[in-house]
Formats: sequence, structure tokens, C-alpha cells
Amino acid sequence: MTDRYAVIGHPVAHSKSPQIHAVFAGLTLQDMRYEAILAPLGGFADAVRAFIASGGRGMNVTVPFKLEAYALAATRSPRAEAAKSVNTLIFSPAGIHGDNTDGLGLVADLRRNLGCDLAGRRILLLGAGGAARGVLLPLLEEKPATLTLANRTAAKALVLRDEFAPRAGSCVFTAVGFAELAGQQFDLVINATSASLADEAPPLPPGVYAPDSLAYDMVYGRETPFMTAARAQGAARQADGLGMLVEQAAESFYLWRGVRPDTAPVLALLRPA
Ligand code: ATR
Repeated sequence: MTDRYAVIGHPVAHSKSPQIHAVFAGLTLQDMRYEAILAPLGGFADAVRAFIASGGRGMNVTVPFKLEAYALAATRSPRAEAAKSVNTLIFSPAGIHGDNTDGLGLVADLRRNLGCDLAGRRILLLGAGGAARGVLLPLLEEKPATLTLANRTAAKALVLRDEFAPRAGSCVFTAVGFAELAGQQFDLVINATSASLADEAPPLPPGVYAPDSLAYDMVYGRETPFMTAARAQGAARQADGLGMLVEQAAESFYLWRGVRPDTAPVLALLRPA
């Protein structure tokens, strides 16, 4: 019988995940079907259980259900525990297992697709919400020289810093408000705020972009105000989060199927010429 998978969200119609996983399945010759499921707000757990009852093997979880997925999972991976959010569910007779492949997806996109090695670099991570939390541990594990967490509400960045400080190793890990970034330079600036969704850019002081720096927005599908501002402020390169989306999908696929799909064909397909 064909194995069933799905992405669950609200809204979900815009999701590229069904397309991505269909290509992965074709490339790796997996007998599986992947659909999009719109769950009503307040109806997440019921929708997951209904999918399991109908033979579902796994799910991707998107906005706004990643915290509910974390709570629903009976067991969780260490990276899901660190992120306190779950984007991948695996169903087995043993129960519901939760994982989070977002951070790995970001690091894989930076390294593989953008040729950006993080070891020894100066990283600025913008935001202190769920998106920033989800990528903090994988970024620290790449052993950057410094990781600066900046947020509009500096106190929230400080709380996150205190939580993750024991995992920082030799990385100089600090938390600040945006104004305190004046006079500092970074090799990589990652936008994990939701500012792009409101068509805004985080207010960065001039001079934060080092020569050869990369400005990366975790939002995908268009040039965001953050990317436009980064170009004007001297960032050598700008990238949106499409590669992260494809790489996190590949890791979810691997967790479900045990085979690692090649991501290049999917990226070429989704990237506007
Ligand atoms: P997500 O799950 O996408 O991270 P979230 O948990 O609501 O969403 O967090 C949103 C993040 O974007 C926060 O860091 C928020 O800053 P505050 O903590 O100060 O609210 C940040 N953010 C949202 N809009 C922003 C804007 N226009 N400029 C800068 N930061 C913004």
C-alpha cells in the first residue's frame, strides 16, 4: 500500500511541501503520497489523529501548529527539545515522535547551496521568537567565532541567550537590542524576525555588513525589505529562505524513508529563472 504523508497548517494551500516531496519521492523511487491538510485552529490534534487512523506515516507541521506538535509528541529528538517546537512528526506503533529539521535545513542551505562555512565566522541572528529559537543550537554547533542575538525587545534576546549559553562552547555568544549593534561588523546576518511578513525590515544601524558578507532571510519566495536594505547597506550577497525550506524537507524525508534525496533538482525547479 502506498505510504501517506502530509503537511498540516492553517493556512496551508500556499505550501510548496507537496511539490517538494513529490519530486523527492520520484528521485528516490519511494512509493508514497504527500498531501496538504488544512486543520482548523483548535483542531490540530484531532486532525493529526484522523490522519494516523487513515494510515498516515508522518507529517510536516507548519504555522501556527509547531508548538502544538511539540506538545502532542510522546517522544522528541534533542533538537526538537532545544527548539521547543516540532516541524516533523513520525508515526509508528510506538506512538508519535516529534523532531525539528528547520535548523539543520538552514545550516545545510548555508553550507551546501551558498558555500558559506560558519566555523570561525561572526554571525548576527535577528529575532528572539520561535524562528530564532529553532535555529540557535544548530548555529552554535557550527562553532562560529561569535554569535550575536539581536532583538527589538532586547530582554527577550537576553532570556534566550541565558538558556543557550551552556551550549555555546568557545563561541562568544551575546544578546543585544538593535541600537547596540552600531560599530560592530558581521560575516553573516540572518533575519529570523517576522518583520518581512509585515513588509518591514529590522532597523539595523549602518555598517553591520562586513565586506563579503551574506544577508539571509528565513522568509522565502520574494526579495524582502530586509534583503533590499542589506544590499543598500553593503552586504555582498542576499538570500531568501527557499533553500532552507528544501533542505529541511530533505531531512524530514530522510527521517521517514531512510534515504537522502538530492536537493539540487528541486531547488532548480522552484527557483524562478
Ligand atoms: P516566529 O515564530 O516567526 O519567530 P514570534 O515568536 O512571534 O514569531 O517572534 C517574532 C519575532 O520577530 C520577535 O523577535 C519580534 O520582536 P519582538 O520580540 O520585539 O516583538 C520580531 N519582529 C516582529 N516584527 C518586527 C519588526 N517590524 N521589526 C523588528 N523585529 C520584529
